[in-house]
Amino acid sequence: MTLGVVVLAAGLGTRMRSSTPKVLHRLAGRPLVGWVLASLAGVDPAHTVVVIGHGADDVRAVLPDGVASAVQEEQLGTGHAAAVGLATLDPACDTVLLLCGDTPLLRAELITELVSMHAGSGRAVTMVSADLEDAGSYGRVLRDGSGEVTGVVESRDATEEQLEIREINAGIFVFDRAALDAALGQVGSKNAQGEMYLPDVLPLVGGPIGALRSADPDVVAGVNTRIDLAACEAALQARLREELMLGGVTMPDPAAVYVDHDVTVGQDTVLLPGVHLRSGTTVGEGCTIGPDCLIEGCVVGDGASITAAHAFSSEIGPGAQVGPFAYLRPGTRMAASAKIGTFVETKNARIGVKAKVPHLSYMGDVDIGDGSNIGAGNITANYDGFRKHATKIGARVKTGSDCVFVAPVVLGDDVMTGAGSIITEDVPDGALGIARARQAVIEGFTARAVEKAKAASDSGGHGS
Ligand code: UD1
Ligand code: CA
Repeated sequence: MTLGVVVLAAGLGTRMRSSTPKVLHRLAGRPLVGWVLASLAGVDPAHTVVVIGHGADDVRAVLPDGVASAVQEEQLGTGHAAAVGLATLDPACDTVLLLCGDTPLLRAELITELVSMHAGSGRAVTMVSADLEDAGSYGRVLRDGSGEVTGVVESRDATEEQLEIREINAGIFVFDRAALDAALGQVGSKNAQGEMYLPDVLPLVGGPIGALRSADPDVVAGVNTRIDLAACEAALQARLREELMLGGVTMPDPAAVYVDHDVTVGQDTVLLPGVHLRSGTTVGEGCTIGPDCLIEGCVVGDGASITAAHAFSSEIGPGAQVGPFAYLRPGTRMAASAKIGTFVETKNARIGVKAKVPHLSYMGDVDIGDGSNIGAGNITANYDGFRKHATKIGARVKTGSDCVFVAPVVLGDDVMTGAGSIITEDVPDGALGIARARQAVIEGFTARAVEKAKAASDSGGHGS
């Protein structure tokens, strides 16, 4: 047996009421069709074809390497889409697994079980069904008196009596390719939607129709509306959190933690409420993250602690401390035990080992050496209105409060700067850089001012 896969993903998804094709809506950071393709992990198909139509270029762009696409110009129904997919599928594939692109909760175990149930069964088709409390708009599975499956009726074409059936068609089939090809040639479109329905091939392929009745009905859920989308997001979040907790991650309030599909978190890390870990994020062991963090595309080292921060495409070194109320923009690289504190924004900034930017600062296009301490309210003036320029701050530097570094500028090692300085020129190793007006002290000023004001009011004058 040589297995090929066809995924139907050409529909707009009218019920989503969206300008985005349905299969591109995201769940846990991954498009719907990506979740469906991930369910193939256990079956190793020889060739996979995704049938695309609405937003074809955008859908093609998210397909992994090695997955082919076939364009269904007009959406004439799932049966027509299957025929379009078959025309592109490698002729060497004699067995076809058909999936819909809108069933993101599929598990690889179910697909593996279906394919092995079909293999060697001698049947032309094996389908997946499930028993639902509320069968809604799913196709209903029809069985004869002896319990054999005879076909599927769509809810819109069903009689009152058939609508009572709770066993539904999951839209997942394994076919003998030749039998499917022949049967598709005989399917018409005389139904409520005027479409060519894929399940209509079932009575036409010949012989008994095998059915794998899913023990877990949730895994076959299809997304047709935004309500379904939200329900699937909740289900996937629960799954991802469970995997993390089983891997040794603590979550005192799991429902308040949100993770994308590719996030990894090390053992003994604590994720507090309000934590969102988005795609491309790797968190080490023994970290404390949260409450209230949004972290995307970041690498967080072991033992780091991050509170109330937003961080994007950044590296947070082992033992580093971030927040509360910090904003790490792309290219922030914190070395081990570095600190970015309260009301601090960074961008393209390297913060050296044990270096600190504790309070109220903007550090952009800057390299801060090991062990340096940036005073409160410091700013790198990195933009001259036309171009960005770099600031280099050496090791063990201590800057005073409220300093501005007008880039490009270099501070050597062991430099100090006076509070309130606008540093426009390089400061060599070990020197103090100070740039501010000297303070004047005017003795007795306050008493004279009071006397002057009193004299003015005694003369009733509003004048000088
Ligand atoms: C379909 C099944 C229904 C089943 C349900 C399971 C049919 C006729 N009905 O209904 O029995 O219970 O799935 O979730 O098959 N598509 C195309 N081209 C088309 C039409 C659809 O590629 O011309 C794709 C869609 O993009 C979608 C998938 O096929 O990914 C299913 O189509 P959809 O309209 O969602 O079918 P359902 O009404 O859910
Ligand atoms: Ca559907």
